[in-house]
Amino acid sequence: MNEQDNALIESNHGDEPLSNHSDNPHFSTILEKRLSRRQVLTGSLSAAVVGILGLPGLLADAQAKKHPSTTGLPVPAKPSFTLNPTLNFKAVPVTRSDTVTIPAGYKAQVIIPWGTPITGNYPAYAPDASNSGTDQEQQVGAHHDGMHYFPFEDNPNGHGLLVVNHEYVDPNILHTNGPTLVDGQRPADEVRKEIAAHGVSVVELEKEPANGDWKVVNGPYNRRITAGTPMEIRGPARGSDLVKTKYSPNGTEARGTINNCGHGYTPWGTYLTCEENWAGYFVNRTPRPREHSRYGVSTSNSRYRWDTAQGGADEYVRFDASTKESNATKDYRNEPNTQGWIVEIDPFDPSAKPIKRTAMGRFAHEGCWVAPPQPGKPVVFYSGDDAQNEYIYKFVTKARYHKDVRGDILDEGTLYVARFNEDGTGEWLPLDINNRYFHAMSLSKGIFFLDQADVLVNTRLAADVVGATKMDRPEWGAVHPQTYEVYMTLTNNSSRTESGIDAANPRAPNSYGHIIRWQEQGNQPWATKFKWDIFVLAGPEGDSQVLPELGGPALTPDNIFASPDGLWIDQNGILWIQTDMSGSQQSSGPFGNNQMLAANPYTGEIKRFFVGAEDCEVTGVVSTPDGKNLFVNIQHPGDRSAPNSFTSNWPDHGNIFAHPGDPVVIANPSGARPRSATVVVTREDGGSVGM
Ligand code: FEO
Ligand code: CA
Ligand code: CA
Repeated sequence: MNEQDNALIESNHGDEPLSNHSDNPHFSTILEKRLSRRQVLTGSLSAAVVGILGLPGLLADAQAKKHPSTTGLPVPAKPSFTLNPTLNFKAVPVTRSDTVTIPAGYKAQVIIPWGTPITGNYPAYAPDASNSGTDQEQQVGAHHDGMHYFPFEDNPNGHGLLVVNHEYVDPNILHTNGPTLVDGQRPADEVRKEIAAHGVSVVELEKEPANGDWKVVNGPYNRRITAGTPMEIRGPARGSDLVKTKYSPNGTEARGTINNCGHGYTPWGTYLTCEENWAGYFVNRTPRPREHSRYGVSTSNSRYRWDTAQGGADEYVRFDASTKESNATKDYRNEPNTQGWIVEIDPFDPSAKPIKRTAMGRFAHEGCWVAPPQPGKPVVFYSGDDAQNEYIYKFVTKARYHKDVRGDILDEGTLYVARFNEDGTGEWLPLDINNRYFHAMSLSKGIFFLDQADVLVNTRLAADVVGATKMDRPEWGAVHPQTYEVYMTLTNNSSRTESGIDAANPRAPNSYGHIIRWQEQGNQPWATKFKWDIFVLAGPEGDSQVLPELGGPALTPDNIFASPDGLWIDQNGILWIQTDMSGSQQSSGPFGNNQMLAANPYTGEIKRFFVGAEDCEVTGVVSTPDGKNLFVNIQHPGDRSAPNSFTSNWPDHGNIFAHPGDPVVIANPSGARPRSATVVVTREDGGSVGM
């Protein structure tokens, strides 16, 4: 979500709240020093120069040392890997058309828009948004975000389970006449519907051989998981006093997953959904403990005021985390502590309870990305905390990978946080109560933890303790399948000041964002040291640069973008970059609507492939294993709509997609109600998308 999301009734809902008041160094200070020392060229080089940058930066660094160059640029060397994709399409220009715009030679189909019936009695979508809360529990949720495609073995490229996150809701669109507040209370069914529109959908899809269209299979795998679904708590925080509630006095169960943004998947075929901006869904009007205040739990009103639902049902009252009773097992003071985790879902077992894997830490998890697993070695997952000046983490399992491991491997391991040094090196600092460095730092800063559960519930505070580097809102990560380099978007940071810049977050304020990448020592994902550089500083032509440390060029009309968010490297080695610009950045900047670009990590070439509908965010991308069906999510088209006055009519106005040069589609305020949906992009000639 961006920073100007629709607030329901509560304007101060605190997305990506700034709640890091530690004195840890900012990444931008580090990068600024690093870049200035290397006397970066600013956008004066031709695109041809990028071609000789050769290998991804970190590899190039190593190559440069082997082959000193008279030009100061790395000598091109034969890549040590084979994924070097040709971006064989004509770039799509920026546009504000209320449709999806894709390159010539491509087509697109819309599937599973919000409200699509997938289970139970299959209640039909009501275009006037009159579906009830019960209906919504059987329909696809709102605000599609991270997703993964799980193929069936019989026909992997034409039959699979698509698992999709539903990050949040826009009550102006979700309800016929917008949200209602009566004497300070929400109607219970409105709350029920909003809770049901959150969470995750598991949808079986099949490609029709006759016409190549994808269709929903109304089968037993289809499932809705919502902000009210019962879940199990596992890992070190299971049974901790900090997660005991009236609902689960022994601290082993929780209800719901909230604000599921990015995602992940495991090598054993399960889905990971990640709880991002959950803090604002709660209110605590009594003194906040650190596990509330460090995450920005509201002191005035909860984001959608679910806690006020008429009738006072327990499932809604729990969003009021004020201390009300004599102890924590009689009220919901600890309810916020049951959010902020990574949740594992088995899409192939509709009866399996989702599991909160607490060893992986509690913060505003954007997503969770696994490094390619290696037999006999620990499994490694990367995750960013998307709030201003928060941190980048990785989790390394204690047990070693083999083909029979399952999710329990996630319950024991080490959670690390990243420190980016000015010299282009970095370190992973363990957040482990038994680690001597952690213990010493804890003592020196006067911040104490009772046990590892306390460390994990207070992950942000633990990261403050060890001196992690404050980043410009870490969003998605992507691990290169061959080089194991990790790319991560840093979407923007309006609160970064000149005195706070560092080498890895070099701009203040950082309005446009950048993409950082690192490579672990010895190319071993479980290493505790790494090297890093910047892949691209996003922005307009006058304030952007590809591979700045190598003197790369500025962006051009073919690839200017801002606020990178979604990220994925596909099986052909294409780095897909998705944007989440705020409303004003879309309407007044040079970037047009939010977009998706394709990049070659090897050459630094970047080309705009896709532009989304009006007021949407483009987020979530995955393909079938053959790379020929690319699934892309359009989240919150018409984000700035008022009740019954829409700023987008996509996709129900029928203009699903267009090509460059086609007439611009203008939204009609009294036209169709906009809906988040998944787009399937294919090449007209049936080839691999983007190549
Ligand atoms: Fe939900 Fe950080 O975007
Ligand atoms: Ca975002
Ligand atoms: Ca995001």
